[in-house]
This record gives sequence, C-alpha cells and structure tokens, in this order.
Amino acid sequence: MQLNSFTLLLVALVPAGQALAGHMGKGIPGHHIQKHHHDLATPSLLKRAPAAAATNDASFANINSTTAQCKPYYIESVSAFSKEFPPVWEIADILPNDTEAQQIWQRIQASGKIPDIAPRGLPTGSMQGNGSRYDAVADPDCWWTATKCTTPKHPGIPNDIVTCPEPHIWGISFDDGPNCTHNAFYDFLKENNQKATMFYIGSNVMDWPLQAQRGLTDGHQLSAHTWSHRYLTALTSSQIFAELYYTVKVIKYVVGVTVTSYRPPYGDIDDRVRAIANALGLDTIIWTDDTNDWQIAPQGPSPTAVIDHNYGSIIAKATSTPLDQAGILVLTHEINGETMDEWMKEYPLVKNAFKHVVPIDTCRNKTQIYQEQQYVYPNFSQYIQGNTMPQGLPKANAIKAKAAQYTITASQPSRPLTSTAAASSKGTGSQAGSKSAATASFSSSTLVLVAVAAAVIVGSSVTLAL
Ligand SMILES: *[C@@H]1O[C@H](CO)[C@@H](O)[C@H](O)[C@H]1NC(C)=O
Ligand SMILES: *[C@@H]1O[C@H](CO)[C@@H](O)[C@H](O)[C@H]1NC(C)=O
Ligand SMILES: *[C@@H]1O[C@H](CO)[C@@H](O)[C@H](O)[C@H]1NC(C)=O
Ligand SMILES: *[C@@H]1O[C@H](CO)[C@@H](O)[C@H](O)[C@H]1NC(C)=O
Ligand SMILES: *[C@@H]1O[C@H](CO)[C@@H](O)[C@H](O)[C@H]1NC(C)=O
Ligand SMILES: *[C@@H]1O[C@H](CO)[C@@H](O)[C@H](O)[C@H]1NC(C)=O
Ligand SMILES: [Zn+2]
Repeated sequence: MQLNSFTLLLVALVPAGQALAGHMGKGIPGHHIQKHHHDLATPSLLKRAPAAAATNDASFANINSTTAQCKPYYIESVSAFSKEFPPVWEIADILPNDTEAQQIWQRIQASGKIPDIAPRGLPTGSMQGNGSRYDAVADPDCWWTATKCTTPKHPGIPNDIVTCPEPHIWGISFDDGPNCTHNAFYDFLKENNQKATMFYIGSNVMDWPLQAQRGLTDGHQLSAHTWSHRYLTALTSSQIFAELYYTVKVIKYVVGVTVTSYRPPYGDIDDRVRAIANALGLDTIIWTDDTNDWQIAPQGPSPTAVIDHNYGSIIAKATSTPLDQAGILVLTHEINGETMDEWMKEYPLVKNAFKHVVPIDTCRNKTQIYQEQQYVYPNFSQYIQGNTMPQGLPKANAIKAKAAQYTITASQPSRPLTSTAAASSKGTGSQAGSKSAATASFSSSTLVLVAVAAAVIVGSSVTLAL
C-alpha cells in the first residue's frame, strides 16, 4: 500500500534537492506524503523547489503562504540522524543495527507482561481478513475496534484515558500533525490563548521538524501518534514497539521532549498494544466523541455541511447531557487545511457552549507531561484562570534541540494501575515512571537550529539545556 511509484520518484529526487538547498530548510530526505485514511502521494510537491523556507521555528511561524509552508526544506542534522530511524511512512520495525532498541525490546519481552495475542487483519484495516473472526461478545483482548472496550482484560495494564475529567469541558485534541501548513491554525490558537493536545505522527515530525518545534514553543501538549499511522493490532509485537519507540525518539530528537502518552490511530488497540505502550512509559488516550472531520471535502468524501453537523451534535451535548461527571474528549484533526479551517469556524460555538476548552493533561492536573522535569504545565485551576502557558520552554527564536540523551523507562507502568473505569478516567496525574531499573540512553547528533545573521550553525559542541 505504501510503496508506489511516487515513493521511488521522491527518493530519487532527494539528492538533487539537498544539493540545491544546501544546509538550509527541510527536515529529511525521502519526503513522502501519506494521506490519512487513503493513500496518495502529492504530485505537486515534486515540482516545488526545495528552497529554504525558514531556519528556525520562529522564522517558520511567520510564513503565511500555505505553499511556502509546505515547500520541502532540508536541515543537515535532521538528515544525519534520520539514519537512526525507519523510513518515513513505512511500517516501523526495530532496525537491524539498533542494538539499544533491541535490548529494550528484549527486556520488555522478558518481563512477561505482553499478552500472547496474535496480530489480526491488515495494517490498512484490522477488521479485514482474519480480524473479522474475533469473538466480540466475549471480547477476550479488550479490542477497542470491535467493542470500544477501554478496561483491559489482561492483568497489569492500566485503563485507557477516555475523558477529560473535569465538568462541562470540551477536551481538545488534534491528531495527525504536524501538518506543513498549520501556521494560520496555530496563530489562531495562540490569539485565543488556547492550548491543545497534539498527537504527532513520527513521520510528520521527521518531515516537518520546524512545524513540530512550534507545537512545543506555542505551549501545546505533545503526544505520540505512531510512526506510520497503521492499524496497530494488525502488526507484529516488535512492529508495535517500533511504531511507538521511534515516534517518541524522533519527538525527543527534534523537539527535545520525551512524551509520556500516545493515541492509537483509528483507536485500534487491544491488550497487546496497551501492554507494549505501557512498558514504554506511555499512557493510552482514546476519546469520547469523534467529529469525523478527516472526512471533510475536498480531500475527504464529506461535504462541509456534514462535518458542521457532526460538530453540532457534539456541541449539543453541552446542554443535552449531564457533563458534570466527566468532560468529553473530542477527536479532531490537524491533517489538512480544511480540518483546521473547520475548527476555527466552530471554535466560537464550542467556546460558547462549554465552560472551558482544555487539553487532556490539564484536565488531569498533570503538570509534568514529559520525562524532562523542567517543563511545567499549568494545572487545571491555573489554566482556566488564563495562565495557559507552560514554564521552562525554549524560546521560539533560538530553539536548540539536543538529543544527546534519550532515556526511556521500560517495563514500568506509566501510571499506577487502577481497577475501575472511574478511577482511570480521572487519571492520577502521577508522573510517568521516572525511576526505573530498566533504562537505556541514546546519543545522536546535536540538532541546533539558530538563525544567527542568516547562518545556520550545526555542531555537536553546541548544547543548551532546554
Ligand atoms: C503575512 O504575514 C505578515 C506578518 O507576518 C504580514 O505583514 C503580511 O501582510 C501577511 N501576508 C498576507 C498575504 O497575509
Ligand atoms: C545502521 O545502518 C544504516 C544503514 O543501513 C546506517 O546508515 C546507520 O548509521 C546505522 N546505524 C548505526 C547506529 O550504526
Ligand atoms: C491473522 O493472520 C496473520 C497473518 O497471516 C497471522 O499472523 C495471525 O496469527 C492471524 N491472527 C489470528 C487472530 O488468527
Ligand atoms: C497537510 O495539509 C495540506 C493542505 O491541506 C495537505 O495537502 C497535505 O496533504 C497535508 N499533509 C499531510 C501529511 O497530511
Ligand atoms: C484538579 O484540581 C482541581 C483543583 O484545582 C480539582 O478541583 C480537580 O478535581 C482536579 N482534577 C483532577 C482530575 O484531579
Ligand atoms: C495548582 O497550582 C497552584 C499554583 O501552583 C497551586 O496552588 C494549586 O494547589 C495547584 N492545584 C492542584 C490541584 O495541584
Ligand atoms: Zn490519526
């Protein structure tokens, strides 16, 4: 499904692009656009000159032409460390020479915590093929796609996070970013002092590193959304591990933070996926309400009016259903210009209907949302008073991401186990296993993105604590 003639063309095109662009611009070679729910390369990208659009996320953020935002650019240090990652948009697996990843994966397997559940269906649809033979009545594996189950059946796995657990809340989250053309949308969020949980796809982070950095410097809450956006339950266990592991790692390398949660594409999880994620220190986040905005025309099949209606039904819940127990958590997308425009159009209605519009970890009073302790996000009460900006962030005009140390905690529950759905949906706010016997560290080339009198400095000797 992934490999088509465009892929090959794009790969072939890259060396020329690099030569043209010098050391400015685009994240990595081999750029391949994969559409979310259908799979098409974008021919027009081939024709665009890979000129430098910007050299850091502050200068990038000032580009308002969508065409210029999506112009491929090239950053040498990102290109250099791309060798430590699977090819973008292909199903990840542990690289044959990645002994660190192999050791962590062996340790996770040896823990005996991964249930023996076979892959099902296809990476393009886990309910296809033998996936259709699942016993959805007994639901032995708590397979969300079949039953919407969020309370694991196997022992030792935390419940999924489903709600934004504060009354009368619209829990705000955007999947599939960073999209190249997100500046107007991120500007809009900024002007409204609105933060959101951003579920970034690893391949998009590699393709569009400056856009990913803006997500952090704007104060959003970053979370993982797998490497290649496939149905996870269809994959082998080492592929599931790699889809999560390399996404967390690329976010660390590009942005400088180690995320502690993820959302599965299509919600496709079972206890095997959950257990692997948990061993990587990742909370599983689902949603209560789906706008289906990714279907919006012209890139999707549904006229705007249909998506308006979907939003309307969710907004109506503010008055029609008791939301005093737990706020809803809504699935919306950063996947393309139309889904972002749709959000900006609906936002006044959402704001008007709900008491607050709050990112997920803020609903949980979780203020340290990354393994790096220096980033401190506002808690719920601070946030609703308008203090939405986290502390400890790098400055947008001089962001330097140094990925010398990527340390994950393995075989340690990301949060204390809870036995009831209520406890799970409330969350605990406890910090993801920050201490563990099983840790591993990584080194990489230093990524330094500084605009200094039009010069781009790339050097491993320059470090800055973020
Ligand atoms: C683009 O943004 C700049 C400010 O960053 C502004 O001066 C300019 O008018 C904008 N151009 C368009 C076409 O909106
Ligand atoms: C792994 O192999 C690739 C080539 O297949 C190479 O570019 C890369 O540097 C190797 N990585 C390590 C950590 O040795
Ligand atoms: C489904 O088919 C795949 C591929 O043939 C196989 O690996 C897997 O074990 C099967 N899963 C089930 C649940 O039968
Ligand atoms: C990003 O948005 C543009 C504009 O809508 C769209 O053409 C492109 O396909 C999107 N990119 C990805 C990777 O989804
Ligand atoms: C978050 O803290 C507020 C007090 O600021 C409290 O009312 C609320 O119950 C807490 N929420 C959770 C999920 O812990
Ligand atoms: C939220 O932060 C404020 C200011 O630091 C603090 O006084 C309050 O106790 C915190 N609330 C919770 C629930 O942690
Ligand atoms: Zn997605």
